[in-house]
Amino acid sequence: MDYLSTRFRHLFGEVKNVQRFFCPGRVNLIGEHIDYLGGLVLPMAISLGITALIVPNKSTKIHVHSTDFDETIEFNLGSLPIAKQKHWSDFILGVLLHLREQGDELSGCDVLLDSNLPKGAGLSSSAALEVLSYFMFHSVFKGKEPNRTQMALDCQKIENEFVGLNCGIMDQFAVANGKENQAIVLNCSSLDHEFVPISLADYTFLIINTNKPRTLAESAYNQRRSECGESLNIISKQRHIENLTEATLRDLELISDPILKKRTRHAITEQLRVQDSIAALSTGNLKAFGKLMNESHASLRNDYDVSCDELDFIATNLQNNSDCLGVRMTGAGFGGCCVALVNSKMVKNISKPLSETFKARFGMSPSFYDCKPSHGVHSIT
Ligand code: GLA
Repeated sequence: MDYLSTRFRHLFGEVKNVQRFFCPGRVNLIGEHIDYLGGLVLPMAISLGITALIVPNKSTKIHVHSTDFDETIEFNLGSLPIAKQKHWSDFILGVLLHLREQGDELSGCDVLLDSNLPKGAGLSSSAALEVLSYFMFHSVFKGKEPNRTQMALDCQKIENEFVGLNCGIMDQFAVANGKENQAIVLNCSSLDHEFVPISLADYTFLIINTNKPRTLAESAYNQRRSECGESLNIISKQRHIENLTEATLRDLELISDPILKKRTRHAITEQLRVQDSIAALSTGNLKAFGKLMNESHASLRNDYDVSCDELDFIATNLQNNSDCLGVRMTGAGFGGCCVALVNSKMVKNISKPLSETFKARFGMSPSFYDCKPSHGVHSIT
């Protein structure tokens, strides 16, 4: 019996027919702050994620234990709170309320959650918890898997309306639909998507977590969204465009405010970089892709103003290392992680000195994760 089964038995007693589910986190390879602008993004699900063990308990209560928080939460199905509790379990509560509203019959069960995905690090731990809960409860209560695109949309709605975070669709979509060895090209307006094979030969994606809490991220995120909304209004008065990512560099002339101009330039150039990245990755041109990653970081730092000293330190350090083809901040910014394309044989040689200089400068060590493109949420048999 493995560690999680033992833990489950210890918490909930001897039980048979325990089902297991896993939902990965995601890393966005390029196309940052583009999903809510309706453009193309290029994320992949990663091998780190959350595992759930679940068994019906023939009661009207759902117990959820998180090994991370070492806490058990009880939901009484007869009296589910209808507002968020400002607690990690809000993502699960939001899903339960949504499924019930949809007409699903909920019944009691015991759940154990165990995660190796760092929380609040820009690797979509919230989306993973929502999508895992949705997929697992839907599978257990209805006996079949949900439609993955609808699930991603529902989870984004739960996050926007119930939890109150104004995110785009990328994270939920990526953790729901990821495929092994492939990145997802997602059109965030139409949700049309295709997969690009990731064949990295001697290279690998290394994720470097600054371990800096992303305190400013939420307010700045909303501010960037509204700045982009203003730019869209200005441009679409001159010519019809639906999304800011349809604008061209010539449209920048229509914008006089210097801040709005910078934000818009990021949206336009980042979108072009996604298109070039798809071409580069499809032909295995890793050097070209690495260069686009570096340019993306510069644009997020200089034009979109969502980087921070810790992310810039990692980016600058690795951009000067010949074993790294490219590096950029990933996720919303203001902390969280960088993703780097590095020579797989040199991971230790790269991470050790970086860890030391980072610690000397910031007083804390970064964490490193070597990640492969992985399957979206699934049951484990
Ligand atoms: C967060 C949001 C996503 C996306 C990224 C930035 O991860 O949840 O929807 O906007 O930031 O690309």
